[in-house]
Amino acid sequence: MNLQGKRILLGVTGSIAAYKSAHLTRLLIKSGAEVQIIMSTSALDFITPLTLATLSKRPVFSDFSDKKTGEWHNHVELGLWADLFVVAPLSANSLAKFANGLCDNLLAATYLSARCPVMLAPAMDLDMYQHPAVRANLKRLSSFGNTLLDAESGELASGLSGQGRMMEPEHILAQVEIFFARKKDFQGKKVLITLGPTQEALDPVRFISNHSSGKMGLAIANAFKSRGAEVFLVAGPIALPLNPSDFHLRNVKSADDMYRAAQELHPKMDFCVFAAAVADYAPAQVAPEKIKKNDAEMSILLKKNVDIALELGKVKRPGQIHVGFALETENEEQHAKGKLERKNFDLIVLNSARDTGAGFQHDTNRVKIIHQDGRMTDSGLVLKSEVAEMILDEIKKAPVWI
Ligand code: PMT
Repeated sequence: MNLQGKRILLGVTGSIAAYKSAHLTRLLIKSGAEVQIIMSTSALDFITPLTLATLSKRPVFSDFSDKKTGEWHNHVELGLWADLFVVAPLSANSLAKFANGLCDNLLAATYLSARCPVMLAPAMDLDMYQHPAVRANLKRLSSFGNTLLDAESGELASGLSGQGRMMEPEHILAQVEIFFARKKDFQGKKVLITLGPTQEALDPVRFISNHSSGKMGLAIANAFKSRGAEVFLVAGPIALPLNPSDFHLRNVKSADDMYRAAQELHPKMDFCVFAAAVADYAPAQVAPEKIKKNDAEMSILLKKNVDIALELGKVKRPGQIHVGFALETENEEQHAKGKLERKNFDLIVLNSARDTGAGFQHDTNRVKIIHQDGRMTDSGLVLKSEVAEMILDEIKKAPVWI
């Protein structure tokens, strides 16, 4: 009874694998969970609500309201009720809806409303599963922090053989149990994360900046949040879907703004992660009006910006852990280790601009995480969400972890 008292929303969509959701329901119930099932409209063609209602011991919902009684099935309440939302099987069609924010049925609307973690178990034919549109949608949902329960290989309903079978119910149950068994190892801790680029104004319409998207910083924020921490974000201008109720968010533009916000929060923090790509220089003068073009060449005098990590490193209290980032183009380890020392970091996360699929903008990253004592871990090229989990695991290995 590993799932005693856990509230699980089980979404079932239109796929031949829907018959397996009956077995999954039975396993979840036997493990002690409360299971509320929502079926997409096309799932009704594959399995009856009666079967799932009997096994889950609750009425099954598939529409926004009960046509006979007029009873409203509140997708917001359903989303808030659950500790975990599992969609198994997830068809290519529902996947596309989730990835694009469409909500023309109760299940898709509940997906958009849910605040709890989401696990997705896709099921489709092998060519569909490999189609770039499906791959892109899966990647998009992963970037939202959803956990993908990768399809398994074997014989498919089409008679073909390959990857596309919904993960077996026993394996899904194991993933759900692992999820709930995972310790909230950062419970009660406060973390400050700087993320995104900064913009340094030149005049009212122009600025100096860089390519940071904020994806790496947000992945770290999501990992801390799911492991129990209270997360404070100081974000430069970024355009990422971010649930404001998950974080304390301060939006800033320039390095000076970022410094002021981070400095104010810093004393109360247990951890600080400096993932932002802060501009090292800013125009010495900000022109009050748009600078006009003329025939002459133009040069801009730049002044040095405050180094946020360096300044806060000087006032780091015992027990407080600072994690820095470095983005390097040559002599990577040497430069990163120099920054680790100079800025009083406990560990530094090194990106090399020479690695393909890593660094700015990508959903993936390859980093080396280097400790003060020289210990180093290479993540390999993986999703930024996976890099984030590794960073948290490495933080726990820092000598000052309490
Ligand atoms: O945002 P993404 O598109 O996902 O890309 C992620 C990332 C590549 C931006 C991120 O992973 C990363 O490497 N961020 C730091 C990039 C950088 O500018 O490093 P740096 O070597 O200039 O700075 C070293 C450290 O000092 C960093 O922790 C930085 O946040 C901090 N710093 C730097 C300058 C400054 N004025 N203030 C700072 O706090």
